Amino acid sequence: MVTCRICNDNVTEFLDFGRQPLSDAFRAPGESRPEFFYRLAVGACAGCSMTQLVEEVPRERMFHHDYPYRSSGSRTMREHFAATARRLMAEECRGEDPFVVEIGCNDGVLLRTVHAAGVRCLGVDPSSGVAEEARAEGVPILGEFFEEESAARIRKAEGTAQLVYSANTICHIPYLDSVLRGVDTLLAPGGVFVFEDPYLGDILRRVSFDQIYDEHFYFFTATSVQAMAHRFGFRLVRVERLPVHGGEVRYFLARAGERTPDASVAELLEEERRERVGEPDRLRAFAEQVAAVRTELRELLTRLRDEGKRVVAYGATAKSATVANYCGIGPDLVEFVCDTTPEKQGRLTPGSHIPVRPHEAFASPAYPDYALLFAWNHAEEIMAKETAFRASGGRWITYVPDVKVI
Ligand code: SAM
Ligand code: TMP
Repeated sequence: MVTCRICNDNVTEFLDFGRQPLSDAFRAPGESRPEFFYRLAVGACAGCSMTQLVEEVPRERMFHHDYPYRSSGSRTMREHFAATARRLMAEECRGEDPFVVEIGCNDGVLLRTVHAAGVRCLGVDPSSGVAEEARAEGVPILGEFFEEESAARIRKAEGTAQLVYSANTICHIPYLDSVLRGVDTLLAPGGVFVFEDPYLGDILRRVSFDQIYDEHFYFFTATSVQAMAHRFGFRLVRVERLPVHGGEVRYFLARAGERTPDASVAELLEEERRERVGEPDRLRAFAEQVAAVRTELRELLTRLRDEGKRVVAYGATAKSATVANYCGIGPDLVEFVCDTTPEKQGRLTPGSHIPVRPHEAFASPAYPDYALLFAWNHAEEIMAKETAFRASGGRWITYVPDVKVI
Protein backbone atom coordinates (compact mmCIF):
# COMPACT_ATOMS: atom_id res chain seq x y z
CA MET A 1 0.00 0.00 0.00
CA VAL A 2 1.27 3.46 -0.94
CA THR A 3 1.05 6.15 1.74
CA CYS A 4 0.38 9.85 1.17
CA ARG A 5 3.48 12.08 1.08
CA ILE A 6 1.49 14.78 2.89
CA CYS A 7 -0.55 13.02 5.60
CA ASN A 8 0.52 9.32 5.60
CA ASP A 9 -2.98 8.01 4.93
CA ASN A 10 -3.60 5.41 2.22
CA VAL A 11 -3.32 6.33 -1.45
CA THR A 12 -5.65 4.52 -3.88
CA GLU A 13 -4.35 4.22 -7.43
CA PHE A 14 -6.76 5.10 -10.26
CA LEU A 15 -4.61 5.35 -13.40
CA ASP A 16 -1.52 3.40 -14.49
CA PHE A 17 0.52 4.42 -17.56
CA GLY A 18 3.03 1.59 -17.08
CA ARG A 19 6.79 1.98 -17.52
CA GLN A 20 7.68 5.48 -18.70
CA PRO A 21 10.95 7.34 -19.42
CA LEU A 22 11.87 10.67 -17.82
CA SER A 23 9.88 13.30 -19.69
CA ASP A 24 12.78 15.70 -20.25
CA ALA A 25 15.52 13.10 -20.91
CA PHE A 26 16.04 13.84 -24.61
CA ARG A 27 18.69 11.50 -26.04
CA ALA A 28 21.53 12.00 -28.46
CA PRO A 29 21.09 9.75 -31.54
CA GLY A 30 23.25 6.65 -31.12
CA GLU A 31 23.53 7.05 -27.35
CA SER A 32 24.22 3.60 -25.87
CA ARG A 33 23.43 4.21 -22.18
CA PRO A 34 20.15 2.49 -21.29
CA GLU A 35 17.23 4.84 -20.65
CA PHE A 36 15.86 5.16 -17.14
CA PHE A 37 12.26 3.96 -16.76
CA TYR A 38 9.91 4.08 -13.79
CA ARG A 39 6.24 3.21 -13.25
CA LEU A 40 3.97 6.20 -13.89
CA ALA A 41 0.75 5.75 -11.94
CA VAL A 42 -1.48 8.16 -10.01
CA GLY A 43 -3.54 7.76 -6.88
CA ALA A 44 -5.58 9.88 -4.48
CA CYS A 45 -5.23 10.00 -0.69
CA ALA A 46 -8.22 8.74 1.28
CA GLY A 47 -7.42 11.17 4.11
CA CYS A 48 -6.46 14.58 2.65
CA SER A 49 -7.53 13.91 -0.99
CA MET A 50 -4.12 14.89 -2.39
CA THR A 51 -3.67 13.33 -5.83
CA GLN A 52 -0.09 12.18 -6.37
CA LEU A 53 2.23 9.82 -8.21
CA VAL A 54 2.75 6.47 -6.53
CA GLU A 55 6.42 6.22 -7.51
CA GLU A 56 8.97 8.97 -6.94
CA VAL A 57 11.85 9.58 -9.35
CA PRO A 58 15.07 10.70 -7.56
CA ARG A 59 15.20 14.49 -7.95
CA GLU A 60 18.79 14.62 -9.26
CA ARG A 61 17.73 12.51 -12.25
CA MET A 62 15.28 15.21 -13.33
CA PHE A 63 16.82 18.53 -12.25
CA HIS A 64 20.48 18.94 -13.16
CA HIS A 65 22.83 20.95 -15.35
CA ASP A 66 21.25 19.74 -18.60
CA TYR A 67 17.58 20.20 -17.63
CA PRO A 68 16.28 21.43 -21.00
CA TYR A 69 13.06 23.34 -20.18
CA ARG A 70 13.28 27.09 -20.74
CA SER A 71 10.43 29.08 -19.21
CA SER A 72 11.05 31.97 -21.61
CA GLY A 73 10.33 29.80 -24.67
CA SER A 74 6.78 31.12 -25.00
CA ARG A 75 5.74 34.75 -25.54
CA THR A 76 2.52 34.13 -23.60
CA MET A 77 4.48 32.88 -20.59
CA ARG A 78 6.97 35.78 -20.74
CA GLU A 79 4.05 38.21 -20.64
CA HIS A 80 2.28 36.21 -17.92
CA PHE A 81 5.30 36.30 -15.61
CA ALA A 82 6.14 39.95 -16.27
CA ALA A 83 2.55 40.90 -15.36
CA THR A 84 2.59 38.58 -12.32
CA ALA A 85 5.83 40.13 -11.05
CA ARG A 86 4.53 43.68 -11.43
CA ARG A 87 1.29 42.89 -9.66
CA LEU A 88 2.83 40.93 -6.75
CA MET A 89 5.46 43.61 -6.21
CA ALA A 90 2.73 46.28 -6.04
CA GLU A 91 0.64 44.23 -3.61
CA GLU A 92 3.24 42.53 -1.41
CA CYS A 93 6.53 44.43 -1.59
CA ARG A 94 5.72 47.41 0.59
CA GLY A 95 8.01 48.85 3.25
CA GLU A 96 11.74 49.38 3.24
CA ASP A 97 13.95 46.94 1.34
CA PRO A 98 11.47 44.14 0.64
CA PHE A 99 12.90 40.75 -0.33
CA VAL A 100 11.40 38.24 -2.80
CA VAL A 101 12.43 34.58 -3.09
CA GLU A 102 11.38 32.43 -6.04
CA ILE A 103 11.48 28.63 -5.81
CA GLY A 104 12.27 27.19 -9.26
CA CYS A 105 13.16 30.45 -11.04
CA ASN A 106 14.44 28.61 -14.14
CA ASP A 107 15.89 31.12 -16.66
CA GLY A 108 14.70 34.12 -14.65
CA VAL A 109 11.50 34.69 -16.61
CA LEU A 110 9.79 36.28 -13.55
CA LEU A 111 12.69 37.57 -11.45
CA ARG A 112 14.21 39.61 -14.26
CA THR A 113 11.25 42.01 -13.85
CA VAL A 114 11.69 42.09 -10.06
CA HIS A 115 15.43 42.66 -10.37
CA ALA A 116 14.93 45.39 -12.99
CA ALA A 117 12.52 47.17 -10.61
CA GLY A 118 15.31 47.35 -8.02
CA VAL A 119 13.59 44.97 -5.57
CA ARG A 120 15.99 42.63 -3.74
CA CYS A 121 15.42 39.05 -4.84
CA LEU A 122 16.85 35.55 -4.94
CA GLY A 123 16.07 32.73 -7.34
CA VAL A 124 16.53 29.18 -6.08
CA ASP A 125 16.96 26.52 -8.76
CA PRO A 126 19.11 23.36 -8.81
CA SER A 127 19.20 23.10 -12.63
CA SER A 128 22.44 25.00 -13.11
CA GLY A 129 22.20 25.31 -16.91
CA VAL A 130 18.94 27.27 -16.78
CA ALA A 131 19.89 29.13 -13.61
CA GLU A 132 23.08 30.41 -15.28
CA GLU A 133 20.88 32.13 -17.86
CA ALA A 134 19.05 33.95 -15.05
CA ARG A 135 22.35 34.86 -13.41
CA ALA A 136 23.62 36.27 -16.72
CA GLU A 137 20.74 38.76 -16.55
CA GLY A 138 21.87 39.89 -13.11
CA VAL A 139 19.34 37.84 -11.09
CA PRO A 140 20.96 36.55 -7.85
CA ILE A 141 20.76 32.74 -7.78
CA LEU A 142 21.16 29.96 -5.25
CA GLY A 143 21.80 26.85 -7.38
CA GLU A 144 20.25 24.35 -4.99
CA PHE A 145 17.04 22.54 -4.17
CA PHE A 146 14.80 24.66 -1.93
CA GLU A 147 14.03 22.77 1.28
CA GLU A 148 14.15 23.35 5.03
CA GLU A 149 17.93 23.49 5.25
CA SER A 150 18.57 25.81 2.29
CA ALA A 151 15.71 28.08 3.47
CA ALA A 152 17.41 28.46 6.87
CA ARG A 153 20.67 29.46 5.16
CA ILE A 154 18.87 32.03 2.98
CA ARG A 155 17.24 33.57 6.03
CA LYS A 156 20.57 33.77 7.83
CA ALA A 157 22.27 35.44 4.87
CA GLU A 158 19.47 37.69 3.59
CA GLY A 159 16.85 37.98 6.32
CA THR A 160 13.15 37.21 5.93
CA ALA A 161 11.13 37.52 2.71
CA GLN A 162 7.83 39.38 2.28
CA LEU A 163 7.00 37.16 -0.69
CA VAL A 164 7.95 33.57 -1.50
CA TYR A 165 6.74 32.78 -5.00
CA SER A 166 6.81 29.67 -7.14
CA ALA A 167 5.32 28.66 -10.51
CA ASN A 168 5.11 25.16 -11.91
CA THR A 169 7.55 23.89 -9.30
CA ILE A 170 5.72 23.17 -6.02
CA CYS A 171 3.79 20.35 -7.72
CA HIS A 172 7.20 18.94 -8.76
CA ILE A 173 8.40 18.49 -5.16
CA PRO A 174 7.43 15.30 -3.26
CA TYR A 175 9.07 16.54 -0.01
CA LEU A 176 6.63 19.40 0.57
CA ASP A 177 6.84 18.93 4.34
CA SER A 178 10.43 20.18 4.19
CA VAL A 179 9.52 22.95 1.71
CA LEU A 180 6.67 24.27 3.89
CA ARG A 181 8.85 24.24 6.99
CA GLY A 182 11.42 26.14 4.91
CA VAL A 183 8.82 28.70 3.82
CA ASP A 184 7.78 29.13 7.46
CA THR A 185 11.41 29.81 8.39
CA LEU A 186 11.89 32.29 5.60
CA LEU A 187 8.65 34.24 5.50
CA ALA A 188 8.48 37.62 7.27
CA PRO A 189 5.57 38.17 9.69
CA GLY A 190 2.55 38.99 7.52
CA GLY A 191 4.30 37.65 4.42
CA VAL A 192 2.71 35.44 1.80
CA PHE A 193 3.61 32.25 -0.05
CA VAL A 194 2.14 32.27 -3.57
CA PHE A 195 2.36 29.32 -5.93
CA GLU A 196 0.64 28.33 -9.17
CA ASP A 197 0.41 24.88 -10.71
CA PRO A 198 -1.78 22.83 -13.08
CA TYR A 199 -5.22 22.38 -11.54
CA LEU A 200 -6.71 18.90 -11.15
CA GLY A 201 -10.20 20.29 -11.87
CA ASP A 202 -9.01 21.45 -15.32
CA ILE A 203 -7.12 18.20 -15.96
CA LEU A 204 -10.29 16.18 -15.33
CA ARG A 205 -12.52 18.52 -17.34
CA ARG A 206 -10.15 18.63 -20.33
CA VAL A 207 -8.96 15.01 -20.00
CA SER A 208 -5.45 16.49 -20.19
CA PHE A 209 -3.81 13.29 -19.00
CA ASP A 210 -0.49 14.43 -20.44
CA GLN A 211 -0.13 16.70 -17.40
CA ILE A 212 0.78 13.46 -15.65
CA TYR A 213 4.53 12.74 -15.91
CA ASP A 214 7.56 12.24 -13.67
CA GLU A 215 8.06 15.91 -12.78
CA HIS A 216 4.42 16.54 -11.87
CA PHE A 217 4.26 14.68 -8.58
CA TYR A 218 1.12 16.37 -7.18
CA PHE A 219 -2.15 17.46 -8.83
CA PHE A 220 -3.54 20.14 -6.55
CA THR A 221 -7.05 21.25 -5.71
CA ALA A 222 -8.17 23.95 -3.28
CA THR A 223 -9.39 21.10 -1.06
CA SER A 224 -6.05 19.29 -0.91
CA VAL A 225 -3.98 22.48 -0.66
CA GLN A 226 -6.16 23.75 2.18
CA ALA A 227 -5.65 20.50 4.11
CA MET A 228 -1.90 20.65 3.49
CA ALA A 229 -1.71 24.30 4.55
CA HIS A 230 -3.45 23.53 7.87
CA ARG A 231 -1.04 20.70 8.58
CA PHE A 232 1.95 23.07 8.38
CA GLY A 233 0.51 26.09 10.23
CA PHE A 234 -0.67 28.01 7.16
CA ARG A 235 -4.09 29.01 5.82
CA LEU A 236 -5.27 29.13 2.21
CA VAL A 237 -6.40 32.77 1.96
CA ARG A 238 -7.00 33.30 -1.76
CA VAL A 239 -7.16 31.34 -5.02
CA GLU A 240 -7.15 32.54 -8.63
CA ARG A 241 -7.89 30.56 -11.78
CA LEU A 242 -5.29 31.03 -14.50
CA PRO A 243 -5.66 30.19 -18.20
CA VAL A 244 -1.97 29.31 -18.75
CA HIS A 245 -0.61 25.77 -19.27
CA GLY A 246 -4.06 24.34 -19.87
CA GLY A 247 -5.60 25.66 -16.64
CA GLU A 248 -3.88 26.43 -13.36
CA VAL A 249 -4.73 27.75 -9.92
CA ARG A 250 -2.66 30.29 -8.02
CA TYR A 251 -2.76 29.63 -4.27
CA PHE A 252 -1.99 32.27 -1.61
CA LEU A 253 -0.90 30.86 1.77
CA ALA A 254 -0.39 32.96 4.90
CA ARG A 255 0.49 31.90 8.43
CA ALA A 256 -2.55 30.98 10.52
CA GLY A 257 -4.09 34.10 12.06
CA GLU A 258 -2.28 36.59 9.81
CA ARG A 259 -4.79 37.06 6.96
CA THR A 260 -8.50 36.44 6.50
CA PRO A 261 -9.44 34.06 3.65
CA ASP A 262 -11.43 35.82 0.96
CA ALA A 263 -14.53 34.54 -0.84
CA SER A 264 -12.53 32.94 -3.66
CA VAL A 265 -11.47 30.06 -1.40
CA ALA A 266 -15.00 29.09 -0.32
CA GLU A 267 -16.22 29.41 -3.93
CA LEU A 268 -13.61 27.04 -5.35
CA LEU A 269 -14.04 24.57 -2.48
CA GLU A 270 -17.78 24.54 -3.20
CA GLU A 271 -17.21 24.04 -6.94
CA GLU A 272 -14.90 21.10 -6.20
CA ARG A 273 -17.53 19.52 -3.94
CA ARG A 274 -20.22 20.00 -6.58
CA GLU A 275 -18.09 18.53 -9.40
CA ARG A 276 -16.70 15.73 -7.22
CA VAL A 277 -13.12 16.70 -8.15
CA GLY A 278 -10.82 14.21 -6.45
CA GLU A 279 -13.63 11.73 -5.61
CA PRO A 280 -12.89 8.06 -6.50
CA ASP A 281 -15.81 7.71 -8.97
CA ARG A 282 -14.81 10.92 -10.82
CA LEU A 283 -11.18 9.79 -11.02
CA ARG A 284 -12.17 6.36 -12.35
CA ALA A 285 -14.35 7.99 -15.03
CA PHE A 286 -11.36 10.15 -16.02
CA ALA A 287 -9.17 7.02 -16.35
CA GLU A 288 -11.73 5.52 -18.76
CA GLN A 289 -11.76 8.69 -20.86
CA VAL A 290 -7.96 8.60 -21.03
CA ALA A 291 -7.98 5.03 -22.40
CA ALA A 292 -10.52 6.07 -25.06
CA VAL A 293 -8.31 8.98 -26.22
CA ARG A 294 -5.38 6.59 -26.59
CA THR A 295 -7.37 4.23 -28.82
CA GLU A 296 -8.71 7.04 -31.00
CA LEU A 297 -5.40 8.82 -31.40
CA ARG A 298 -3.56 5.65 -32.37
CA GLU A 299 -6.29 4.75 -34.85
CA LEU A 300 -6.17 8.17 -36.47
CA LEU A 301 -2.37 8.26 -36.79
CA THR A 302 -2.24 4.69 -38.10
CA ARG A 303 -4.87 5.47 -40.72
CA LEU A 304 -3.04 8.61 -41.87
CA ARG A 305 0.22 6.67 -42.16
CA ASP A 306 -1.52 3.94 -44.16
CA GLU A 307 -2.92 6.64 -46.46
CA GLY A 308 0.64 7.91 -47.05
CA LYS A 309 0.11 11.28 -45.32
CA ARG A 310 3.01 13.20 -43.77
CA VAL A 311 2.46 13.79 -40.06
CA VAL A 312 4.85 15.76 -37.85
CA ALA A 313 4.43 16.89 -34.25
CA TYR A 314 4.68 20.44 -32.89
CA GLY A 315 6.42 21.14 -29.54
CA ALA A 316 8.58 18.52 -27.80
CA THR A 317 6.85 19.19 -24.49
CA ALA A 318 7.52 17.18 -21.33
CA LYS A 319 3.79 16.37 -21.44
CA SER A 320 4.17 14.70 -24.83
CA ALA A 321 6.42 12.00 -23.31
CA THR A 322 3.33 10.53 -21.65
CA VAL A 323 1.24 10.81 -24.82
CA ALA A 324 3.87 9.29 -27.12
CA ASN A 325 4.88 6.45 -24.81
CA TYR A 326 1.42 5.59 -23.49
CA CYS A 327 -0.19 5.74 -26.94
CA GLY A 328 2.72 4.01 -28.72
CA ILE A 329 3.53 6.95 -31.02
CA GLY A 330 7.04 6.68 -32.51
CA PRO A 331 8.88 7.66 -35.70
CA ASP A 332 6.74 5.15 -37.64
CA LEU A 333 3.69 7.40 -37.07
CA VAL A 334 5.25 10.86 -36.66
CA GLU A 335 8.20 11.92 -38.84
CA PHE A 336 9.73 14.42 -36.38
CA VAL A 337 8.81 16.97 -33.70
CA CYS A 338 9.71 20.60 -34.28
CA ASP A 339 10.68 22.67 -31.27
CA THR A 340 12.25 26.09 -30.74
CA THR A 341 14.43 24.96 -27.79
CA PRO A 342 18.07 24.58 -28.97
CA GLU A 343 18.78 22.13 -26.11
CA LYS A 344 16.15 19.69 -27.49
CA GLN A 345 17.00 20.01 -31.20
CA GLY A 346 19.04 17.23 -32.84
CA ARG A 347 18.03 14.84 -30.07
CA LEU A 348 15.40 12.11 -29.79
CA THR A 349 12.28 12.26 -27.65
CA PRO A 350 12.50 10.13 -24.48
CA GLY A 351 11.34 6.55 -24.89
CA SER A 352 9.57 7.13 -28.22
CA HIS A 353 12.75 8.27 -30.07
CA ILE A 354 11.12 10.73 -32.46
CA PRO A 355 13.77 13.14 -33.85
CA VAL A 356 13.48 16.73 -32.62
CA ARG A 357 14.16 19.34 -35.32
CA PRO A 358 14.32 23.14 -35.23
CA HIS A 359 11.18 25.11 -35.94
CA GLU A 360 12.39 25.82 -39.52
CA ALA A 361 11.90 22.12 -40.39
CA PHE A 362 8.14 22.59 -40.01
CA ALA A 363 7.83 24.53 -43.28
CA SER A 364 10.92 23.43 -45.14
CA PRO A 365 11.19 21.83 -47.63
CA ALA A 366 7.35 21.67 -47.40
CA TYR A 367 4.66 21.79 -44.75
CA PRO A 368 3.40 18.35 -43.63
CA ASP A 369 -0.19 17.25 -44.25
CA TYR A 370 -0.91 17.08 -40.51
CA ALA A 371 0.66 18.51 -37.35
CA LEU A 372 0.06 16.76 -34.06
CA LEU A 373 -0.11 19.61 -31.54
CA PHE A 374 1.87 18.33 -28.54
CA ALA A 375 2.12 21.93 -27.23
CA TRP A 376 -1.69 22.27 -27.12
CA ASN A 377 -1.41 24.54 -24.07
CA HIS A 378 0.20 27.16 -26.34
CA ALA A 379 -2.36 26.61 -29.14
CA GLU A 380 -3.43 30.24 -29.43
CA GLU A 381 0.13 31.53 -29.74
CA ILE A 382 1.17 28.77 -32.14
CA MET A 383 -1.87 28.92 -34.42
CA ALA A 384 -1.54 32.70 -34.64
CA LYS A 385 1.99 32.38 -35.99
CA GLU A 386 1.38 29.32 -38.18
CA THR A 387 -1.46 30.61 -40.34
CA ALA A 388 0.56 29.73 -43.50
CA PHE A 389 0.41 26.05 -42.51
CA ARG A 390 -3.38 26.07 -42.54
CA ALA A 391 -3.40 28.15 -45.70
CA SER A 392 -1.22 25.48 -47.37
CA GLY A 393 -3.95 22.91 -46.64
CA GLY A 394 -2.33 21.57 -43.46
CA ARG A 395 -4.49 20.37 -40.56
CA TRP A 396 -3.87 20.31 -36.82
CA ILE A 397 -4.49 17.19 -34.77
CA THR A 398 -5.39 17.82 -31.15
CA TYR A 399 -6.35 15.35 -28.42
CA VAL A 400 -7.43 17.64 -25.58
CA PRO A 401 -10.21 17.17 -24.57
CA ASP A 402 -10.83 14.71 -27.43
CA VAL A 403 -9.20 13.67 -30.67
CA LYS A 404 -9.96 16.21 -33.40
CA VAL A 405 -8.62 17.26 -36.79
CA ILE A 406 -9.01 21.01 -37.29
N1 SAM B 1 8.99 28.71 -12.68
C1 SAM B 1 9.28 28.32 -14.03
C2 SAM B 1 8.03 28.31 -14.88
O1 SAM B 1 6.93 28.38 -14.35
O2 SAM B 1 8.16 28.24 -16.10
C3 SAM B 1 10.01 26.98 -14.10
C4 SAM B 1 9.19 25.77 -14.05
S1 SAM B 1 10.11 24.30 -14.38
C5 SAM B 1 8.84 23.28 -14.97
C6 SAM B 1 10.46 23.67 -12.78
C7 SAM B 1 11.74 24.24 -12.19
O3 SAM B 1 11.80 23.86 -10.80
C8 SAM B 1 13.01 23.70 -12.83
O4 SAM B 1 13.80 24.77 -13.30
C9 SAM B 1 13.68 22.89 -11.71
O5 SAM B 1 15.07 22.92 -11.77
C10 SAM B 1 13.14 23.58 -10.47
N2 SAM B 1 13.10 22.80 -9.20
C11 SAM B 1 12.79 21.50 -9.01
N3 SAM B 1 12.85 21.18 -7.70
C12 SAM B 1 13.20 22.32 -7.04
C13 SAM B 1 13.43 22.66 -5.67
N4 SAM B 1 13.30 21.78 -4.68
N5 SAM B 1 13.79 23.93 -5.38
C14 SAM B 1 13.92 24.87 -6.36
N6 SAM B 1 13.71 24.61 -7.66
C15 SAM B 1 13.36 23.35 -8.00
P1 TMP C 1 5.56 23.61 -22.18
O1 TMP C 1 4.23 23.14 -22.66
O2 TMP C 1 6.09 22.80 -21.03
O3 TMP C 1 5.60 25.10 -21.94
O4 TMP C 1 6.61 23.32 -23.36
C1 TMP C 1 6.43 23.92 -24.61
C2 TMP C 1 7.43 23.33 -25.59
O5 TMP C 1 7.04 23.70 -26.90
C3 TMP C 1 8.86 23.84 -25.40
O6 TMP C 1 9.78 22.80 -25.68
C4 TMP C 1 8.97 24.96 -26.43
C5 TMP C 1 8.06 24.47 -27.53
N1 TMP C 1 7.41 25.55 -28.29
C6 TMP C 1 7.68 25.65 -29.66
O7 TMP C 1 8.44 24.85 -30.20
N2 TMP C 1 7.08 26.66 -30.36
C7 TMP C 1 6.23 27.56 -29.76
O8 TMP C 1 5.72 28.46 -30.44
C8 TMP C 1 5.96 27.43 -28.35
C9 TMP C 1 5.01 28.37 -27.69
C10 TMP C 1 6.57 26.41 -27.67
